[in-house]
Amino acid sequence: MSSWQSTIFNQAKLRNSLHKLLSIVGARPNFIKLAPLAKALHESGGFEHKILHTGQHYDANLSDNLFIELGLPLADYNLGIGSGRQAWQLGQMVVGIDEVISKVEPDAVLVYGDTNSTAAGAIAAAKNYLPVAHVEAGLREFDKKIPEEVNKLLTTAMADLYFCPTKTGVRNLAASGITSNVHLVGDIGIDLIFNNLDRIENNASLLENYDVKPGQYYFFTCHRANNTERPDPLLEIITALEELDLPVVFPVHPRTAKAIAAFGLPDPANFPHVRAVPPIGFFDTQTLIRFAKMAITDSGGVIKEAYFHHTPGIIIDQQTEWVETVEEGWNHITGPRSEAILGLARTAENPKTHTNCLGNGTAATQITKILKEYLDARC
Ligand code: UD1
Repeated sequence: MSSWQSTIFNQAKLRNSLHKLLSIVGARPNFIKLAPLAKALHESGGFEHKILHTGQHYDANLSDNLFIELGLPLADYNLGIGSGRQAWQLGQMVVGIDEVISKVEPDAVLVYGDTNSTAAGAIAAAKNYLPVAHVEAGLREFDKKIPEEVNKLLTTAMADLYFCPTKTGVRNLAASGITSNVHLVGDIGIDLIFNNLDRIENNASLLENYDVKPGQYYFFTCHRANNTERPDPLLEIITALEELDLPVVFPVHPRTAKAIAAFGLPDPANFPHVRAVPPIGFFDTQTLIRFAKMAITDSGGVIKEAYFHHTPGIIIDQQTEWVETVEEGWNHITGPRSEAILGLARTAENPKTHTNCLGNGTAATQITKILKEYLDARC
């Protein structure tokens, strides 16, 4: 074989070999974004894909049960880090991820969303000179007191490939001077709903378990640090909850349950119209959002899922990264203010337009194709 033939042969061999990817996840929203991509990567046949779980979430209904429900394989590595002060948690994660990276020697690292596990994964990968692909890139809340905003900024700074869910994401990156390797692919969480719509729609009997009727209840969640680290905002939110005019389905995040007890606030579980339950599985949550009169939430996931299901939403936070859903009139920002929440719950109407601005359920396949091209080009 001549030298040029052998070069071409080696390049072809490399192109045909599997690219090794390491996904870093740790918290519930990471797993939801991982699930469609893990499936698409597997189906493409072009990758060897390993999963590292930092252990940020460890309660069964925030972690293991979700892995089972979403058809995810067991994580290949679990660091078991658990809860703690944010900088401590992030530091422990970086050290643990670094060790796994040195064992696995991946070609690239994938990180998802904006949790502490996301930022830790991006930092550890960059410190190993590995390309970092960020799924759900470019979103901003423009307030560094929000833990997720710090994670967004750190992750953007470390990333090499940016998969944006919305045009706003692309614009935010451009505003920070990032324009190459930026791909608008739509929201990957929507993939999961899109591809399971029958199952979500045909599960309306689930409502009987909560003794609620379609269009005649609120779906409510609250867990962000802003709303749970101090008693005042939480009391405002609980006051609104107490006065709402219809039944409320309220899956209670463990952080919120602990905050209510620690601050000695009235427990919504004692309000007769509130169905306070432990965190619910992904698909049951989608059914409950889809058939609700409104979603009232500070969760970025629920905000965009409500939009997808044409369910109007009240955002009990000061801002959101899902700005398109507010601009279209589907979501309304009230902050944690009981009067504003109750006023909107009474008056908000469905807007006339819905542009499906979060994508069409093909984010995972697009990301898979782009990753393959990117890594082929590096061989
Ligand atoms: C994390 C993410 C947030 C995401 C949310 C989904 C960060 C900064 N935040 O918030 O973006 O929307 O996950 O749930 O990464 N706890 C338990 N059991 C668990 C995990 C946590 O009881 O399995 C309690 C602990 O008291 C812990 C607190 O919740 O201290 C906060 O947990 P943490 O993972 O730091 O943040 P989340 O509020 O879950």
